[in-house]
Amino acid sequence: MKELRLGVNVDHVATLRQARLTTYPDPVEAALAAERGGAAGITVHLREDRRHIQEGDVLALQERVATKVNLEMAAAEEIVEFACRVRPQDACLVPERREELTTEGGLSVAGRENLLSGVVARLAGQGITVSLFIDPEPSEIEASAAVGAAAVELHTGAYADAAGEAERDRFLQALVDGAALANKCGLEVHGGHGLTVANVGPVAAIAEIEELNIGHSIVGRAVMLGIEEATREMLAACRAARSD
Ligand code: PXP
Repeated sequence: MKELRLGVNVDHVATLRQARLTTYPDPVEAALAAERGGAAGITVHLREDRRHIQEGDVLALQERVATKVNLEMAAAEEIVEFACRVRPQDACLVPERREELTTEGGLSVAGRENLLSGVVARLAGQGITVSLFIDPEPSEIEASAAVGAAAVELHTGAYADAAGEAERDRFLQALVDGAALANKCGLEVHGGHGLTVANVGPVAAIAEIEELNIGHSIVGRAVMLGIEEATREMLAACRAARSD
């Protein structure tokens, strides 16, 4: 079985920073810590509304990340131009709606082959490995191969959010079948969205999946792991001032 890579999405470190327009917490520092923890890549989504990651973050990550940068992006001209200029190792095309809380569904590739094959070719022409974030539907997988993508990232959100066991099994089976079909079509298979320590196991066990991109649960866990120490540090700083 191929080794599984973990890409850590640090968007929500930037979400916290942008909430106060401060310089901290720094997604680049978080990325370096994720690498120390074993991340095989750092994923960020430069959204058109810039609600978390900014252009400068991507540039700094490109300079400082030792593994690889995977830029999630809409197939929008402004972002495509930016990606072609910055040339991250990987780019993942995602659908984007301004009002959404997060990327809500997979990209519609079937029926938009002309537009997407042009974007994929432009990115690939800059040496970028292009994946498409899609639902595990046979028509989308076949269309992804047809437009020249190197990889698909299968949307695991429906599996992660499934209401009960029967529904979860059905969505897991779709991922299993989708991974097999994508592999047969010559695509590298990735997965992501909504994965946690509690639900990642059955997805990580799918042999064809080579990379998982996980963000929200890791950043959320990092906050809980660190808040005790951060409180201690602040209290020590306060007490030090009193003892002066
Ligand atoms: N993969 C893609 C394409 C995404 O858009 C996201 C969310 O930004 C993720 C993976 C990570 O999802 P989560 O934050 O739920 O782990």
